[in-house]
Amino acid sequence: MTVSRLTGVLGARADGVTLGPDMDPELVAELRAALVEHEVLVVPGQGLSPQEQAGFSHLLGPYSEVPFVQPVPEHPEVIKVVKEASEPEAFNFGGVWHSDFSFLDAPPAFTVLHALDVPDVGGDTVWASMTAAHDLLPEEMRQTLEQVTCVHSASASYSPAQQALHSGLSGMDIRTSESAEETREHPLLCTHPETGKRSLFFNGTYVRALRGPGVGDGSEAGSREESRLLKWLHEFTTHVRFTVRHRWSDGDVVLWDNRSTQHVALNDYAGQRRELNRTTVAGTEPVA
Ligand code: SIN
Repeated sequence: MTVSRLTGVLGARADGVTLGPDMDPELVAELRAALVEHEVLVVPGQGLSPQEQAGFSHLLGPYSEVPFVQPVPEHPEVIKVVKEASEPEAFNFGGVWHSDFSFLDAPPAFTVLHALDVPDVGGDTVWASMTAAHDLLPEEMRQTLEQVTCVHSASASYSPAQQALHSGLSGMDIRTSESAEETREHPLLCTHPETGKRSLFFNGTYVRALRGPGVGDGSEAGSREESRLLKWLHEFTTHVRFTVRHRWSDGDVVLWDNRSTQHVALNDYAGQRRELNRTTVAGTEPVA
């Protein structure tokens, strides 16, 4: 396996490797090390069935629960991310900056996304490094954020009011629920459990409120200061200087570390079909 960097910030491409459930443990360890170091790893030219993708994901860790989105009939751990050519107006899955299911007690460590049928043009995915964002925080701001916890919830995406949005995708079965209103608090400045690097565990989609001295009390109807800080955090963490962008080809597998990145799927391919299979690998509770 050869690994080459894609930007000066995050992302790498791994060539000369075939992913699958029966990979050599040393190669898996090498792949995992490259993934946590570069945060996003592109592995081109793969051909995994849902069963094989789930089996490969198990080599990185146990299955992470997938709320709201129904799995493919062929495998309970795999979800299909699909928007049909006939759905030009539909909101695409993952089309806002987020870190996968950060509202869980223990959000997924990794996501594995396998491209099956991608548009000729458009439909790229962009990731931002929360490690790089942390490292460029102005010192005064870093001190303020040190004491802040984020209130995560799926309410803006999966509460019943959002059902019509998801029902625009005929190839996905997304079932919203009142349970989306449940909240979990995670520290804002976290230490990566494998690299020990610090990062900002933030995303503007699932972080609905902040708790911290002079910032907020954790309730959604927060102060002007809290709204201002939420907006600042979103704009700062998704700045182009922290990003890598991937132009998909059929067969690509991209793995990313949800503990140190956010991502967004660009919805710029109206009239074309885009289909990928996704698995998620369990993580641990984020720690300050
Ligand atoms: C996701 O957010 O998991 C989907 C990303 C993508 O479709 O590019």
